Amino acid sequence: MKLIIASNNAHKIREIKQILGSRFEEILSLKEAGIDHETVEDGTTFLENARKKATEIAEIAGCCALADDSGICAHALNNEPGVYSARYSGKGDEANNLLLMENLRDKADRSAHYACAMVLAYPDGSVISAEGEMHGEVILTPRGENGFGYDPIFFLPEYGKTSAEISPEEKNRISHRAKALNALVAKLDEGKKEN
Ligand code: IMP
Repeated sequence: MKLIIASNNAHKIREIKQILGSRFEEILSLKEAGIDHETVEDGTTFLENARKKATEIAEIAGCCALADDSGICAHALNNEPGVYSARYSGKGDEANNLLLMENLRDKADRSAHYACAMVLAYPDGSVISAEGEMHGEVILTPRGENGFGYDPIFFLPEYGKTSAEISPEEKNRISHRAKALNALVAKLDEGKKEN
């Protein structure tokens, strides 16, 4: 069966292809599949958004589709920005980081986690879904050049580094996305479909 990854992010696609191995005959990005479709991400959970993206693409393409949705959840802020992580400030990554630091400045608890929901949808509407988390704390001085988004302010105590300071290979091993994808692959191998 063919699989379309609901993303055009080359890095994400390479990582997903590596983990999925030979479980699918062909793995294509949206662009490679010739699909130009933007899902309206109006869900209130990562799972809802990922499921919506995956099922829409599976229906359009008539084959399997894999989608993820992710974000950062700050515990002292009721898990905000959560599903609104990409559009928190409305002004891009740097402004998002400034806003999160500002909102946590006077909080004693700056613990947070990244969350990722990953959904594999079949053309018949059934799905396999899984979630993963990576825990850390928000710091008020950005550090590091790797990664993207909130990585320069997301500190991993067990590494003594932010997720923008660890190597991309290291991050791919421990990230919320890797955990969600590995959990999904385990369910796929067990044939655990949901409706
Ligand atoms: P999406 O899942 O690609 O829609 O990403 C949602 C947003 O969450 C991104 O734009 C980032 O702001 C944030 N985010 C998700 N995963 C990460 C990560 O691994 N590092 C930094 N920011 C992330």
